[in-house]
Amino acid sequence: MVLPNLWKLYNLQSSPYFQATLHQGSTATPTSLFVGRKQERQQLLSTIGGSRSSRQAVAGRPGLGKTTLVQAVKADALAAGYWVADELISITAESSSEVLLGQLLAGAYDAVLACNPDAAGVAVEAAQQLVRSFRLQGGGVNLSVAGFGGGASRSAVISNPPSALTLDGPRVLRDLLKFTLRKGAQGLLLHLNNLENLSEADAERAADVLRGIRDQALLLDGLHLIVVGTTDAVRTVVQRHTQIRSVFGDPVVLEPLALPEVRQLLDYRYQALQLDPNRPWRAPITNAVVETLYGLFRGNLRGMLKSLEEGIQALLGLTIMGDAAMPVSLDDLLPVLKRRNQLELEGRLGITCWERVLRWAAMDPAARQTQAELARLWRIRQPSVSQTLQQLTAAGAVEALPRCGREPIQYLLTGTTRLAT
Ligand SMILES: Nc1ncnc2c1ncn2[C@@H]1O[C@H](COP(=O)(O)OP(=O)(O)OP(=O)(O)O)[C@@H](O)[C@H]1O
Ligand SMILES: [Mg+2]
Repeated sequence: MVLPNLWKLYNLQSSPYFQATLHQGSTATPTSLFVGRKQERQQLLSTIGGSRSSRQAVAGRPGLGKTTLVQAVKADALAAGYWVADELISITAESSSEVLLGQLLAGAYDAVLACNPDAAGVAVEAAQQLVRSFRLQGGGVNLSVAGFGGGASRSAVISNPPSALTLDGPRVLRDLLKFTLRKGAQGLLLHLNNLENLSEADAERAADVLRGIRDQALLLDGLHLIVVGTTDAVRTVVQRHTQIRSVFGDPVVLEPLALPEVRQLLDYRYQALQLDPNRPWRAPITNAVVETLYGLFRGNLRGMLKSLEEGIQALLGLTIMGDAAMPVSLDDLLPVLKRRNQLELEGRLGITCWERVLRWAAMDPAARQTQAELARLWRIRQPSVSQTLQQLTAAGAVEALPRCGREPIQYLLTGTTRLAT
């Protein structure tokens, strides 16, 4: 069944509120749609340009645009003569030092082929062999950027010690980098995404995993690495061992884009998706909608875009509009989002948790709460608070703010929850 294109009403080819990251070379989501972050983009790039090998970390709260920033930096680096692959390397909860080494090698191999399709020779063939057997064993979930996301498929690498990868991987990677430099590239840039997948399972092990490949893989000549994760993940993992901290610079910590930048982000998308070039596009939403939703989501672009996409699709599906569709207003959108999010969250959380959310929202939906405060509000003991918070966080109803020093962690209702309550 072919669904009618509802966005046609606004002279748009498809949904301008897609949540995929941008990537260079894509026609649907090109990096030319990127806005802002000039200073961070420049900083990441000049660190890469500043030495023969580098390691950097990008941190920030969920949905702020971490992955997309690195995608933009990769496009810059490519233009500056570095070899990069479109794919990003997705870290999973099961990644071991060996898996990570395999993923780095596979990522490097992909970058070599992407930038030099008829690459050949001993170094390339050796890499090809190792990468092939690594992938056959299910390792290396190098996700295409189109299908990225936190819940990557699990990689199950059977570890028969010591594998060919452990024995030969570091040398093969080093030779591949030498090949890259010999062919005139400035270096090779790899993007390791979602560090939090590893650190949430076990922060200490996550740090050990990185340390385990430091000398054989992280410090190789010609290799530039950007690791992306939530602020806490980067802090706990990258800064845990001196040996790792000392080879990474201070992380680039992202703040939310400013509201005018978000408006520009949307305008770029409308412009790029214009259906009939002889007629202007129309914004499907009013400025007030952007302002209010962005405020509720506190910088979480992914969350805001998802709500816009779902809400407007639901609305357009309900209403028969004429050719001259009006932009959707807050009064139209909020009730739809409230109903949708309520149903979804209530279903996902179950009645007890949902009631706790309601009690929190009734007090002050924008308040930051600690576990002790929530124990008083909910009249339950600390272990149950922590269990409830785990459930709420996993369901996307609550977000834990990055820890500030020795202060207790503060929790906030997410934009999705605030729309529901
Ligand atoms: N600077 C930007 N310019 C244009 N679009 C952006 C920018 N930053 C983010 N976006 C868009 O916002 C959405 C979310 O961005 P992204 O996936 O990079 O966030 P993230 O911080 O990596 O999220 P997560 O925490 O879920 O990994 C994507 O659709 C992306 O295209
Ligand atoms: Mg991301």
